[in-house]
Amino acid sequence: MSTKQLRHIISTSQFDRATLEKLFASAQKMEKLHKARKPSKILAGKVMAAIFYEPSTRTRLSFESAILKLGGQVISTENAAQFSSAAKGETLEDTIRIVHSYADVIVLRHYEKGAAEIASQYSNVPIINAGDGPGEHPTQSMLDLYTFQKEKGKIDGLTFAFLGDSLYSRTNHSLIRLLPYYKNVKVMLCSPKELELPQPYYDLMKKHKIPYSVHRNVDEILPKADVLIVTRVQKERFPSEQEYKKMQGTYRIDASSLKKMKKDAIITHVMPRVGEIAPEVDSDPRAAYFRQAQNGLYIRMALLEMLLK
Ligand code: CP
Repeated sequence: MSTKQLRHIISTSQFDRATLEKLFASAQKMEKLHKARKPSKILAGKVMAAIFYEPSTRTRLSFESAILKLGGQVISTENAAQFSSAAKGETLEDTIRIVHSYADVIVLRHYEKGAAEIASQYSNVPIINAGDGPGEHPTQSMLDLYTFQKEKGKIDGLTFAFLGDSLYSRTNHSLIRLLPYYKNVKVMLCSPKELELPQPYYDLMKKHKIPYSVHRNVDEILPKADVLIVTRVQKERFPSEQEYKKMQGTYRIDASSLKKMKKDAIITHVMPRVGEIAPEVDSDPRAAYFRQAQNGLYIRMALLEMLLK
């Protein structure tokens, strides 16, 4: 889909390689703009509503920073389930039909898979899916790819190792949907059996002839990975605390893991991390997760410009 045709951003399946490359070029310009510390009026007069029914640090604040840096303004509710009229029983549909008359774009995080798609059916302004339960988180995957491109100089030909919860990780789901656009990529998945990737994503890789392998032992993936994508066990998606505790702490990357990895590999994590990467890893140049979070600002500036200008 071309950038002109994009109305809502619901799933990474709406994007193709050409659109991603345009987005990355625009993100590079946004990085320069940000680093120049000069005020911009690119989106002056535009209002972004950030409606978050689930907690967030990076997504909400980077979107808010992005619109402010482009000269626009923000209205937001950071705990919509408690502090919006959802607490009085208002439906998502009604909330969207109200908010779209106050804003030029709505960034929505919701605990239910499919919520962003439903919201897009009721909105006269673009909806950006900022995470819909265990469904997708498309803008995260775009900034992840942008990070791989910046850090490794390419995406074609890389071997990606996904470590951790691939069952509930919406960011892994969105990212895997984008890999068919790249040539000669390989995938390794390492998780407990209970947290394996859902079948449709295996089917997608088969359809696009992306070689993949499934592992339980992290030592099998460390020496081969160009990009190690670490994912926390998504506590909030488990049916009970007891079920979560059985999976908590299954894998941990530490100084001894670094010794088994390629010298030019990178380690990414969409964050928050909750123990799956030891703090001693942070000072290693291969630890790319804080740079990755910073890239979120540039990608979201580029996306807002793409949708609103
Ligand atoms: N990566 C990510 O979505 O982080 P937040 O939950 O803090 O937004």
